[in-house]
Amino acid sequence: MALIYVALGAVLVSATAVHAQANANCTTNSFTVPSWYVEEFKKGGPGSDVTFELLNRATNVSVELQCDAQDTWSNCTTVGSSDPFLQASVLVKSATASVQVQQSWSCSDRDATKPLEFTASGSATIPLVAGGAGQKSANPIDLIKASLHAPVSITPAYADGPTGHSNPGCASKTPTWTLGTVIFLNETGDGDKATESQSIQFQVTNVATGQVAGCLMYFAAGAEDPAVHMTCGGEFDLRRRSRYNVVTEAVFYPRSWRFSISQTWFCDDADAARPVSISATGNATLALNCTKDSTTTTACQAASITVAGNVVSEQALPPYSIEDPLPAPDGCTISSIVAPSWTLSNFEVDKNEANTTGGHDHGHTRRDIDNGPSASISFNMKLNTKAVNYDYPVFVNHNDVQLADAEAWYPCSFGPGEVPIAPKSCSFQYKEATSTLTIKVDWVCIDIDEAHPVQFSGTATTTVPKLDCVSQSSGVQICTAGDDYSWEAQVANVTWKAAEPL
Ligand SMILES: *[C@@H]1O[C@H](CO)[C@@H](O)[C@H](O)[C@H]1NC(C)=O
Ligand SMILES: *[C@@H]1O[C@H](CO)[C@@H](O)[C@H](O)[C@H]1NC(C)=O
Ligand SMILES: *[C@@H]1O[C@H](CO)[C@@H](O)[C@H](O)[C@H]1NC(C)=O
Ligand SMILES: *[C@@H]1O[C@H](CO)[C@@H](O)[C@H](O)[C@H]1NC(C)=O
Ligand SMILES: *[C@@H]1O[C@H](CO)[C@@H](O)[C@H](O)[C@H]1NC(C)=O
Ligand SMILES: *[C@@H]1O[C@H](CO)[C@@H](O)[C@H](O)[C@H]1NC(C)=O
Ligand SMILES: *[C@@H]1O[C@H](CO)[C@@H](O)[C@H](O)[C@H]1NC(C)=O
Ligand SMILES: *[C@@H]1O[C@H](CO)[C@@H](O)[C@H](O)[C@H]1NC(C)=O
Repeated sequence: MALIYVALGAVLVSATAVHAQANANCTTNSFTVPSWYVEEFKKGGPGSDVTFELLNRATNVSVELQCDAQDTWSNCTTVGSSDPFLQASVLVKSATASVQVQQSWSCSDRDATKPLEFTASGSATIPLVAGGAGQKSANPIDLIKASLHAPVSITPAYADGPTGHSNPGCASKTPTWTLGTVIFLNETGDGDKATESQSIQFQVTNVATGQVAGCLMYFAAGAEDPAVHMTCGGEFDLRRRSRYNVVTEAVFYPRSWRFSISQTWFCDDADAARPVSISATGNATLALNCTKDSTTTTACQAASITVAGNVVSEQALPPYSIEDPLPAPDGCTISSIVAPSWTLSNFEVDKNEANTTGGHDHGHTRRDIDNGPSASISFNMKLNTKAVNYDYPVFVNHNDVQLADAEAWYPCSFGPGEVPIAPKSCSFQYKEATSTLTIKVDWVCIDIDEAHPVQFSGTATTTVPKLDCVSQSSGVQICTAGDDYSWEAQVANVTWKAAEPL
């Protein structure tokens, strides 16, 4: 693919305009799921062409392609109008076809006046079966996952999907669960310190997928045998949100120890193009072993119980949907490209009116000056994104700022332990006379592709809000913009490049 990319690069440079697409989530999808669906992949009888439809999942635009079917790679042409921004080629070898695609497109959904241009390439192998006079894809749809080459070089990670979704046989028609560490506690209370409480807890493992859920419920059973319903805790994929999460529900009857479980899980073991969701139930009477732990507590337990069940329903899911990440709010990478800005807060200037410094040099970014009050400047800064996870401001400070030298730049020091989450480098300049703060920052994003960090650089110039000053008896004057006051500083002229993996 690398070779093809170089060859196609020439075409892209000479191209002047790419048709802009206003598809709703064009930008988000371009960054997070650059890919194509191949539909209707067909090869006629001997000597006939290969034809297929190629749907760009970011723009939602589909084109029809036609390619010579030879024993070597052959280029495809778009049926109808030619498309200089799309290069596709195929190679058919007995029961499989290989397809390579490179395409450039642009998205105007964020800023209609400044379409964002993308280039991506990818390849896939398509299994073929007999169809018509020749062959066709064995799949309803084939997926070509892509790497992005512009505006950034990243290969988005897909979602992990629920545990065991591709385990061979996970669509089992004879579902089985193992209950581990089953504990039914009956604390009767003594009407005084020991309170009455009953609980059931266990871990349930779906034998076909290996997925484990924890179940725990407190209840109060009188003389009856009430159905104690519980929803068991599952797993969460915070970074690349899965479309599907396993749902496990159980019912326990505390007097008869009857038990039932119902679970919905997801399986694409045979073919990622044909995922299914499976809903099944199982019943058992739990063989528990009771011991009286104290006068008020009876514990009934079992180390491991197998529950067999039946499939209630099986439903086909959209092709490839198990590992498809859900569209997520803008994180570090997308925000840095489409709307880079810092959220600043807790701005504070501590001036020591008594201190005058004598021109000692604290570093190459500072000019020597002969007098003037020295100050400590601090503020919180955070990249402005729409993502909520792991998104904390860092504390920035420099405690020897010469207010009389408005042109000096000061390196940022970060709060204790904050260096790992802080920007890679940062310096600022503060002009007291005009309340102008300028921040020059390099920062790194790995939210879409951890293996290929992107380093951004840009300068934000902002006017600091009006400061309220209080003089301390020590002679220090503390000026703040208000404890919770925050404002945004747009980063002008952001640039980026590939950075070394962390
Ligand atoms: C994609 O286009 C098809 C028809 O061209 C339309 O039915 C569908 O809603 C579109 N999907 C999105 C996500 O815009
Ligand atoms: C296929 O397209 C590539 C890229 O445009 C080009 O370099 C190559 O010569 C083409 N191959 C054929 C057989 O036309
Ligand atoms: C709990 O223990 C008390 C005292 O041994 C007993 O009377 C009661 O039936 C028990 N409850 C259940 C649900 O087993
Ligand atoms: C389990 O019990 C419920 C309710 O009694 C019943 O509807 C269901 O069919 C049973 N499932 C199995 C697998 O026996
Ligand atoms: C029941 O528990 C007791 C005490 O822990 C143990 O000695 C006994 O072997 C257990 N019986 C069974 C059937 O698990
Ligand atoms: C578009 O993305 C947003 C999140 O950014 C999501 O909530 C919405 O469902 C997406 N729409 C489509 C059609 O994918
Ligand atoms: C004033 O100068 C002294 C001596 O250099 C230093 O210890 C003190 O921290 C300074 N105060 C401020 C607010 O900069
Ligand atoms: C950003 O770049 C433009 C064009 O190069 C330039 O005119 C402008 O002054 C720059 N802005 C800043 C804040 O550097």
